Amino acid sequence: MKSYFNPTKNLWLQLLFNPHFLALFAFLALCLSLQLIQLVMDSYQNIKFENNNGIALLTINRPDKLNALNMKTVEEIGRAIQVVYDNAEIRAVIITGAGEKAFVAGADIAEIAELTELNSRKFSEQGQDVFATIENCHKPIIALVNGFALGGGCELAMACHMRIATNNAKFGLPEVNLGIIPGFGGTQRLTQHVGKGKAFELATSGDMISAENALSIGLVNHVLEDKTAAMTKAVEILAKIVNKAPLAVGMVIDCINAVYNDEVDGYQMEANSFANCVKTEDFAEGTQAFLEKRKPNFIGE
Ligand code: COA
Repeated sequence: MKSYFNPTKNLWLQLLFNPHFLALFAFLALCLSLQLIQLVMDSYQNIKFENNNGIALLTINRPDKLNALNMKTVEEIGRAIQVVYDNAEIRAVIITGAGEKAFVAGADIAEIAELTELNSRKFSEQGQDVFATIENCHKPIIALVNGFALGGGCELAMACHMRIATNNAKFGLPEVNLGIIPGFGGTQRLTQHVGKGKAFELATSGDMISAENALSIGLVNHVLEDKTAAMTKAVEILAKIVNKAPLAVGMVIDCINAVYNDEVDGYQMEANSFANCVKTEDFAEGTQAFLEKRKPNFIGE
């Protein structure tokens, strides 16, 4: 008679349904995934990047150099912002500097001292590209400015959608002190934020201004007593925005940015975006929720 007993197969089956084996397998899978997460986190040297319940915190992390931006740091910021674009779980971002003393004290002077004409243009374009991805991101990005925001630091803050400063924050474009000019969009964005006269004065004198002064000229949105209070304020603002219709928020960002883009007719973009909103499920949900006197549940579609 033919035997259906297959000792090898039986052994595998016993192993597969053995609770100890299953526990070991789950443990190994957990180790592997933790290692993968660690690998991704370790891939940054000069920034820290973590997602806290949908609000990512990007910290420029070179406190011994007052978080100065060298090429590697700019590249890492660019990589993190690409993750923000790609990862649906991240809905907003706060950018800040490690420690209490500085947000970012500018481009790394030791590194720029070695630049040639050729690679200085490349460095400037690299910074401009990365900062443009921040400005054009459809998810809101707030700069939490603690301490010095000078040169590239001021430029980084200006590329964000909003700026919340601590009392000890200081803003400035001191590049003329070094015989150079701002290279990461500073001449353009400072003029957009504060107007031509004030931009001219700041960028040619190299003077630093206080947080209160920055508030009075429209360079920052809010000033808070310390980093904890500024963080609470930033989270409060972002929590409000991430509950709105995401596609509409993205379109508002595009339309506001269009004001400063000579190649785009902002009014036309606004009309097109308005019409595009009407096609979305979130528009149907938003209007229906209003009529039914309930909170809308937006899905970003
Ligand atoms: N690039 C490289 N290193 C920088 C830096 C920068 N932009 N800003 C500060 N650092 C370094 C300093 O060299 C110092 O390093 P060290 O301890 O190895 O010597 C460290 O950060 C602390 O800075 P320090 O100057 O000692 O602090 P401070 O409190 O006396 O002064 C500033 C603070 C911000 C006024 C001063 O650091 C400064 O003027 N920085 C340059 C600002 C600038 O010109 N930015 C635009 C660059 S294009």
